[in-house]
Amino acid sequence: MAISFTKSFTIPLMLTICSTILRFGRSYDYPAAFNFGDSNSDTGELVAAQGFSLSLPYGQSYFNTPSSGRFSNGRLIVDFIMDAMDMPFLNAYLDSIGAPNFRKGCNYAAAGSTVLPATATSVSPFSFGVQVNQFLHFKARVLELREGKGGKKLDKYLPAEDYFQKGLYMFDIGQNDLAGAFYSKTLDQILASIPTILAEFESGVQRLYDQGARNFWIHNTGPLGCLAQNVAKFGTDPSKLDEFGCVSSHNQAAKLFNLQLHALCKKLQGQYTDGNITYIDIYSIKSNLIANYSRLGFQQPIMVCCGYGGPPLNYDSRIVCGQTKMLNGTLVTAKGCDDSSEYINWDGIHYTEAANQYVSSQILTGKYSDPPFSDKMPFLLKLKF
Ligand SMILES: *[C@@H]1O[C@H](CO)[C@@H](O)[C@H](O)[C@H]1NC(C)=O
Ligand SMILES: *[C@@H]1O[C@H](CO)[C@@H](O)[C@H](O)[C@H]1NC(C)=O
Ligand SMILES: *[C@@H]1O[C@H](CO)[C@@H](O)[C@H](O)[C@H]1NC(C)=O
Repeated sequence: MAISFTKSFTIPLMLTICSTILRFGRSYDYPAAFNFGDSNSDTGELVAAQGFSLSLPYGQSYFNTPSSGRFSNGRLIVDFIMDAMDMPFLNAYLDSIGAPNFRKGCNYAAAGSTVLPATATSVSPFSFGVQVNQFLHFKARVLELREGKGGKKLDKYLPAEDYFQKGLYMFDIGQNDLAGAFYSKTLDQILASIPTILAEFESGVQRLYDQGARNFWIHNTGPLGCLAQNVAKFGTDPSKLDEFGCVSSHNQAAKLFNLQLHALCKKLQGQYTDGNITYIDIYSIKSNLIANYSRLGFQQPIMVCCGYGGPPLNYDSRIVCGQTKMLNGTLVTAKGCDDSSEYINWDGIHYTEAANQYVSSQILTGKYSDPPFSDKMPFLLKLKF
């Protein structure tokens, strides 16, 4: 008797508490997600578009194949976030092979992409403005197909019309604008160019807003001076490095970029009174990870897991992870390390799956975002470490 009494009262009470939390907090229950960016969140776009392949050990730790097209040994931050929100991994927009399903969203991010328009020497022609164009084309086609004969049959594969307004729009782009500029510009020139980069970013976000996007989730850029590729090229003189072994100038550029990006997010939030802009401080999460790596369970903060050359960086720009090549008269291979979970850096430019998982767990605490979100989000309960 006592038991059934307790039961019948606690369950409705708990439901009331839960729905109260949901009503007062921002709801992170999205029907779809649309992602824009570079290799940090590319789920197969550049590989599909350019028709090349990565080699093992890319993909080895999770997908068991490099054909997931991700620049890591496993999952990316965007994959962990989708998983935490109980959504499937995002299909790359241009990846037509297999059984692409865009019902829950689409990913336009492509490795090497910049915010500023691509040039003849760009790795990716899919700069931010082009990615936004691709989205606009996608949306127009989806609406057209749904209206047409047999539109109902496409329900399983395409977003519903209201998903475009209710969906989450995620951004992680800017790293290549900064990192690429160091090859031809001075630090002062790069710092001075940041407003131009952000004006281009703003115009893309505005175009999405004009098309009905309302929920924006904007990642800032990471400490790119800590990437072995940049340390190898720009950090040979130890006076250029900070206490953690990162190139100071690169991190200085990233910090100023982030300061101005944060201000832009505040400005947009002021303008979009019917929208939500969440700014996420990836820089702090990643620099904390690199500075406090051993306490966080890693053994190598900067040295590359899959590379060539041995310590201290195990990185050689002439050979890509997984490749075998004649170097200086000898046939060499850029191999993976024994235990990638000890490393933060995968291939000199990208993070390992273990590091991506750590970064995602920190994003999802809500403490690194502005506005901060509560860690009582229902999807957080699913994330286990
Ligand atoms: C966005 O913000 C508005 C107003 O602040 C709020 O009512 C709404 O629930 C938010 N939507 C989402 C999906 O977070
Ligand atoms: C490293 O951890 C300490 C202690 O938690 C913290 O105060 C410090 O800010 C961290 N370093 C970085 C660069 O985040
Ligand atoms: C090529 O090998 C020679 C002899 O081992 C070495 O001194 C030189 O530094 C190498 N050059 C490069 C570019 O690795």
